[in-house]
Amino acid sequence: MHDFKGKDILDGAQFTRNEIETIMDAAEDMRLRLEESRVLDLMKEYILATLFFEPSTRTRLSFETAMHRLGGEVVGFASTGTTSSAKGESLADTIRTIDQYADVIVIRHPEIGSAKVAAEVAISPVINGGDGAGQHPTQALLDLFTIRSERGHFDDITIVLCGDLKYGRTVHAGVELYKHYDCSLILVAPDQLSMPHEITARLREGGVKVEETTDLESALKKADVLYMTRIQKERLEDPAEYERLKSRYILTREMVEQIRPEVTILHPLPRVNEITTDVDSLPGAAYFRQVKNGIYIRMALIALVTGRI
Ligand code: NCD
Repeated sequence: MHDFKGKDILDGAQFTRNEIETIMDAAEDMRLRLEESRVLDLMKEYILATLFFEPSTRTRLSFETAMHRLGGEVVGFASTGTTSSAKGESLADTIRTIDQYADVIVIRHPEIGSAKVAAEVAISPVINGGDGAGQHPTQALLDLFTIRSERGHFDDITIVLCGDLKYGRTVHAGVELYKHYDCSLILVAPDQLSMPHEITARLREGGVKVEETTDLESALKKADVLYMTRIQKERLEDPAEYERLKSRYILTREMVEQIRPEVTILHPLPRVNEITTDVDSLPGAAYFRQVKNGIYIRMALIALVTGRI
């Protein structure tokens, strides 16, 4: 077993393949344990803090649910209006304070690198729940878990990532995990929102097969997994740019049925308009099962970084 005790979870690039496998196995174990009982007592007497400086539905509530299912307690905030950040407190001071209360800290913050700053000042392990357009490693881990459980394996598959690959932190973290496996990546984005060159260059240097295109339909023909993302209005400075880009890629039921009926479809959610709702009832539409997997992954991570498993 790898020793995760005391470790921060900051970046998809921090993991070896063995570590990823350890987390996957621990998550699978959590899934099985929850079949036996609704609440475990693994984290009894422990406190998790969820500090959300940016909007969230799934990440925050699934971390909180995960901690409750582990038998632990939760403190935190879902927006900054009622906290001392509104009085001008620095992130470092807020973290030093929360560190006196909680055994593990989850943070989401609009600035790239903020989770790392938090980890530098906190003694408790810090988990990055999304740092601006940077990284979102727990989402990437649950995405990988979902692909494995939907497809039965991870190697030898073609994954199409589509949408906002420039600012999308879930895909930035995801490719850092996928690179350890024998899979091919096809990146589909408008030119303005393509995956940063330093990421694609590094992937290619590491031997990952990466293709880039602006054409979703041609990519879909080859896809085992299609990972859709939303165009993120809040990351674009120019509202006119958002209007131009927001309907660029829309996956419809007809497209899936005609081009690639067997494809597995993922989305980190929230969805805006990039997957029509009639796709939801297709057998390959896995995005709500993906949400559920977030509980198992986050239970595993909380228990691992606190040394409880
Ligand atoms: C994503 C995020 O916050 O980066 N959502 C999530 O955590 N499930 C994706 C998004 O907001 O588009």
